[in-house]
Amino acid sequence: MLRLELNNLHPDRVGPYGFDLAAALAEHAGGLEAARNALWSRRMDPDEFLGWIEVPEDTETLREILRYRQANDWVEDLVVLGIGGSALGAQAVSAALGKGPVRLHFVDNVEPEPILELLRTLEPGKTLVNVISKSGSTAETMAAFLAFRKWLGDALGAGWKGHVVVTTDPAKGLLRPYAQAEGLVAFAVPPAVGGRFSVTCPVGTLPLAFVGVDLENLLAGARKANQTARDALDKNLPAQTALIQYLAAARGLNITVFMPYSTRLRFLPDWFVQLHDESLGKMVDRQGREVRVGTTAVRAIGTTDQHAQVQLFREGPHDKLITLVRLEHPSQDLEIPAVAGLEGLDYLFGKRFFDLLTAEAKATAHALAKAHQPNYTIALERLDAYHLGWLLQHLMWQTAFLGELWGINAFDQPGVELGKEYTYALMGRKGYERLAAELRAEGVG
Ligand code: PA5
Repeated sequence: MLRLELNNLHPDRVGPYGFDLAAALAEHAGGLEAARNALWSRRMDPDEFLGWIEVPEDTETLREILRYRQANDWVEDLVVLGIGGSALGAQAVSAALGKGPVRLHFVDNVEPEPILELLRTLEPGKTLVNVISKSGSTAETMAAFLAFRKWLGDALGAGWKGHVVVTTDPAKGLLRPYAQAEGLVAFAVPPAVGGRFSVTCPVGTLPLAFVGVDLENLLAGARKANQTARDALDKNLPAQTALIQYLAAARGLNITVFMPYSTRLRFLPDWFVQLHDESLGKMVDRQGREVRVGTTAVRAIGTTDQHAQVQLFREGPHDKLITLVRLEHPSQDLEIPAVAGLEGLDYLFGKRFFDLLTAEAKATAHALAKAHQPNYTIALERLDAYHLGWLLQHLMWQTAFLGELWGINAFDQPGVELGKEYTYALMGRKGYERLAAELRAEGVG
């Protein structure tokens, strides 16, 4: 079960920054229903990049991934070379649910020292390298691949080919023809699935298969989110959270904080920040008119950041909407023992850690509301593959709905692409000579 706790959004609690969601749903019913119908009816159009809706239905690809994992039981270390949407989903889910025995490493930067450190500690014969790039050309990922390819080749000779698995577009980019020419195992990123929406396709499922994540249930949870995204508005959870985000932005709350109360979910905010910011920070709408929309997603972890950011969240400027994520049941729990001589702590004696965690989340939500800081909670029944799959897909739907409400394309990233092009020009890539000259004329280079 995934539930929303919305009391701390109501004007009775948070004054002028709040809203009555039931009334708002009625007022915005036309726009939300149009958004829902447009997203569902466009989902098979490859140009719309809505392939992530259908991916959780694809159990055949999942079976291939599981067969590949079984056939490679020699792997002790799996290195993912990928950046942004090609890394963050697997990183978030593996931190939450990964059980090993394979050690998972992510190379998502080009700082030489950590790469050298990793190469020094790994044994090539026990290492599998999964290079993940939808475009098959991102400079950071390709540079890392060149380094790992040489490292494997130097150590294993022709045997390097069994130590590389490629995840890329089925037709486009440099990696696909390279994989074909070298006879490498390669999985496809479906053409209509963008990086930040790709966690349930082989971009996420392949690395996650190696750390024992229950992928059938991860996809089942994502399918459950699809069901809710089809529902009438009073039950349509992603339409509701999208409307909350939309109304908060309309009230000038330009920052959206995402704060799970869970160390296991510590990388989920990073995934959410990328999903939200890259999808929704847009200069123009679908008609090409300048709109400059978007809110800035900020990461926080409860309870840890109660002792860091929450002071600002409560008493700083009224420019934030806060989403808390709370678990309703632990997977394991621990009693807080009584210790003689520390009776000042007897309010904790015999209580459970999970009760303290829950009390902290509820206390923070209330303390924020008392300062008229709007917040709501996504309550997940427990942290398992099904509920995490549901939450991930819920947040993808929320993003898609919000894109529709703002009238923008949530599935492109022209700002990111421009940075990639400038990098190619500065690094002397063939075909980018004119851009390089322009940059030099602008004093860059
Ligand atoms: O979400 C996105 O589309 C981006 O963050 C990409 O995932 C990122 O830029 C990496 O791109 P690629 O997978 O083409 O290497």
